[in-house]
Amino acid sequence: MYIDVKQIDEEKTQEHGLPPDVFKSPEIFEKECDAVFRQGWVSLASAQQLPEVGDILPVKIGDASLIIIRGADNEIGVFHNVCRHKAAPLVDGPCRKRVLVCPYHRWAYSIDGSLRGAPKYYGKEDQVLSAEDKQDKGLLKVRSAVWWDTIFVNLSEEAEPFEDFIRPLDQLLEGYDSSGLKLMSTTEYQSSANWKLAVDNFLDGYHVPFVHSQAVTVESVLDQEDLFLSDNITGLRLANGASDKPAKTDKPLPHFKHLTEKNAGTQQWFCLFPNTLLFVDPVWVQVIIVRPESEKYATETLTIYAANPEAMKDEFALQRESLISALNEVNQQDIELLDKIQFTRTSPEASKGHLVQAWDQVGIRFHRMWLQKMQQSEG
Ligand SMILES: [Fe+2]
Repeated sequence: MYIDVKQIDEEKTQEHGLPPDVFKSPEIFEKECDAVFRQGWVSLASAQQLPEVGDILPVKIGDASLIIIRGADNEIGVFHNVCRHKAAPLVDGPCRKRVLVCPYHRWAYSIDGSLRGAPKYYGKEDQVLSAEDKQDKGLLKVRSAVWWDTIFVNLSEEAEPFEDFIRPLDQLLEGYDSSGLKLMSTTEYQSSANWKLAVDNFLDGYHVPFVHSQAVTVESVLDQEDLFLSDNITGLRLANGASDKPAKTDKPLPHFKHLTEKNAGTQQWFCLFPNTLLFVDPVWVQVIIVRPESEKYATETLTIYAANPEAMKDEFALQRESLISALNEVNQQDIELLDKIQFTRTSPEASKGHLVQAWDQVGIRFHRMWLQKMQQSEG
């Protein structure tokens, strides 16, 4: 199936969403790997998943294989997981070490990416690799940034500076102290759906009280405010989304430090195009990183943080456990739904859907962001 993205009509997208085929075309997926996942600021993982110097986490995003490393300077660095000799991957799974050795020909790299040595590099003679021959063979470094504990990269080097990308959201969230975020849990989900459907569903506040009736009432979502922050960031705000929840215990988890009264009942959630889904509640934060595996498979990593370090005390163990299980239950419900929607949303009939003014504008904004990026790349 050949789809020319330049022929996709913006007005039709506004009314019906993107055409069905873009959620199942292998050719579109291949284009997205470059136009979306290499060009944009994409998220990979949480910095707190790598607490110690030498912690290493390999991650694939689109058509790139990367390694995240906590360096000797305690900073997060990201490199291509590609040996500079014959491009073998260096690491298969999470590990902690100071030297990375390629399994193919045992070229060895320091955690700052520099090449340390390559056995028998000059053939017969037992001569060590010279500084001159080492200097252009370090691991390829990727432009990266850490924000709200989430690690972002830009593979093309062509995206705007990260500070500019994030500024509108940073300003909106000024009243929240993200320095106290404590990672409570990380769970990986496999979804048999196109990655865009996962993002679209996250931005759909309408389904929440119906699909997740155990967690949310219809009344609590009625005051939805759409947030259009930039060409890359959109989201929703429920001014009273958190305030009507009866505390299930007499000792609720503590909220963000220095939280303003205005934010005390507010829930807000955002898509940072393309693959970062951020949910901010007064007492917890959730980040879902969506990584496409193909046109119809995606991996989601759901990370849950306590907003206040006090919440990590033993006395809150039960509350933490029940929050983690409630949020994972919600995500599981979404995954099961998406696996079914993948079939119907890619049928020709899906192009006749009627999106509604009150609920679907944020999702449409995401569709249009995608269209804009894809059309730009076609020149
Ligand atoms: Fe949902």
